[in-house]
Amino acid sequence: MRRAVCPGSYDPVTKGHLDIVRRAAGLFDEVIVAAGVNVSKSRFFSPEERLGMLETATADLPNVRVAGFTGLLTDFCRDNEVHAIVKGLRGSGDFEYELPMAQMNAHLADVETVFIAADPAYSFVSSSLVKEVASFGGDVGAFVPDFVLDRLTERAAERTRGA
Ligand code: PNS
Repeated sequence: MRRAVCPGSYDPVTKGHLDIVRRAAGLFDEVIVAAGVNVSKSRFFSPEERLGMLETATADLPNVRVAGFTGLLTDFCRDNEVHAIVKGLRGSGDFEYELPMAQMNAHLADVETVFIAADPAYSFVSSSLVKEVASFGGDVGAFVPDFVLDRLTERAAERTRGA
């Protein structure tokens, strides 16, 4: 069984993420989309909300399942018999960010990191930008599934009311 993990914050999942997950699912027997905690980012959606959106967004992919994790990614890989971490690369900035993590993860566990070149259509798309644009009422409908757009719009309105 060739099992891979696609880790990320997924706050929220974008079409760019889903493109990478779909392509990873074509390369591996099973793909676990694992929503973790990036300590340097503030959250828009709770872990449960992010997992729920990921489940809906990947429901059409039979060899993909969704999980949350809280500790080290390498511990998750060991516990789930995962030997490949799949990451999308949108450009050199992603590579600079990802390479040390890949090297650290290889030091911590018997795990390879596999990079997939992002579809150029999504090379400028990130959850952070999508949240920022949605917060100010901008249209991000091209970059997230429709049901995620609804959740983003609702959350942005709640945050504006609460501010
Ligand atoms: O979508 P993101 O924010 O780039 O995802 C980053 C994430 C959650 C995959 C990364 O921060 C991570 O792996 N966190 C788990 C903790 C960990 O293992 N840290 C050491 C990485 S070398």
